[in-house]
Amino acid sequence: MSIHIGSTAPDFSVETTTGPISFHDWIGDSWVFFFSHPADFTPVCTTEMGRTSQLSEEFAARNVKPIGLSTDTVEEHLSWIKDVNDTQNTELKFPIIADKDLKVAKLYDMIHGDESATQAVRSVFIIDPNKKIRLTLTYPMNVGRNFDEILRVIDALQLADAHTVATPADWRPGDRVIIPPTVSDEDARKNYSNGFETIRPYLRTTSV
Ligand code: BEZ
Repeated sequence: MSIHIGSTAPDFSVETTTGPISFHDWIGDSWVFFFSHPADFTPVCTTEMGRTSQLSEEFAARNVKPIGLSTDTVEEHLSWIKDVNDTQNTELKFPIIADKDLKVAKLYDMIHGDESATQAVRSVFIIDPNKKIRLTLTYPMNVGRNFDEILRVIDALQLADAHTVATPADWRPGDRVIIPPTVSDEDARKNYSNGFETIRPYLRTTSV
């Protein structure tokens, strides 16, 4: 199954470090940062798990629930979490999916066979409360993810939903945003209370 932006996130039931979950029920009314790892007790993964835990208040402020996946058992995950907490100076509370049989990893196309037949690559899915896939990212096994970018894109998606805007290259919260070309000048005058600047007919910026 292909996981594309705009498609419904495939549902599944699975064991996690915080108990069994049915994914869609667990999502509820939240956004989700769903991210996969090759294996427990590996160095890059340990730093990523720690960073996600350290950012728990940032995720909560955005109504985002993190959930990890690694292709090991609940018992192995729980033992690894102790190491994550010790080495990354945190207290990891979000669930980690136990996917020893690769059921979820295969469902989400996280197994890239030319890289490894048994370990997931570093996939990221941002899923919205309607259970729609809003972002996909795939990192190789030997490159840790950029968590500034993950928070930035969540901010951009939520801003775009709230204000019918798009965000330019390297946008950061507070920067000017773009009025989508599908919005006419007439509607833009009515709907963007801070006015807008027309740089080209197709490139109009505003602030929100
Ligand atoms: C790591 O998490 O450090 C890692 C895992 C698999 C391959 C390379 C690095």
